[in-house]
Amino acid sequence: MLEKTGAAVKGPLRVVVMVSGGGTNLQAIIDSVKDGTITNTQIVGVISNNKNAYALKRAAENRIPSSCVSPKDFESRSIFNEKLLEEVDSYRPDLVVLAGFLVVIPPEMIRKYENRIINIHPSLIPSFCGKGCYGLKVHEAALARGAKVSGATVHFVDEGTDTGPIFLQKAVEVRQDDTPELLQRRVMEQAEWQLLPRAIDLIANGRVKVEDNRTVILEQQKTE
Ligand code: GRF
Repeated sequence: MLEKTGAAVKGPLRVVVMVSGGGTNLQAIIDSVKDGTITNTQIVGVISNNKNAYALKRAAENRIPSSCVSPKDFESRSIFNEKLLEEVDSYRPDLVVLAGFLVVIPPEMIRKYENRIINIHPSLIPSFCGKGCYGLKVHEAALARGAKVSGATVHFVDEGTDTGPIFLQKAVEVRQDDTPELLQRRVMEQAEWQLLPRAIDLIANGRVKVEDNRTVILEQQKTE
């Protein structure tokens, strides 16, 4: 569990990854756990709001338990919110990773998992983010503004949209002849797929603390 003090974590960090689509970020996390880029971590579950998400196939191929909880299957948003939180709780996660999850996280869940939910956003927050700015729209906005750099941000999730403490960021060049799709791909390849595994590894090794809407990354402890 992420302690406010950044204290060392006991046992492998139990991570739940929440997805809606292709799951390339989920794949980057799976690969990084396998190749040791992420240490001290176990992916204990994948939750999708979309039963056709390719991310669910990636989970199955890697024998990771998964489930689907869709707002469409419930009478009201509050019932869905309850079920979603129940599903998350059932995996007993230390950390929840939003990797392209397109559903608003219930406020009760944000409170319960304070400083234990991270999200990846495909721009340098506070640019090109906020309500309605997700997926390709982020890259369309960056191109429309004529930005020369974009990038990705991992941040902790609070009750606002993309307003939580910024954790990691990486800049990516915008090219003159970019399309939103080309820029999206470059941001994924050069930033997202590296940042999210690094963020998880830092948390798993007790190297992050959150203080007053900022994060502090602690020096690695020297082992003799
Ligand atoms: C990524 O661009 C991520 O930054 C955004 O949604 C996209 C998810 O892609 N939040 P994938 O499902 O991981 O391939």
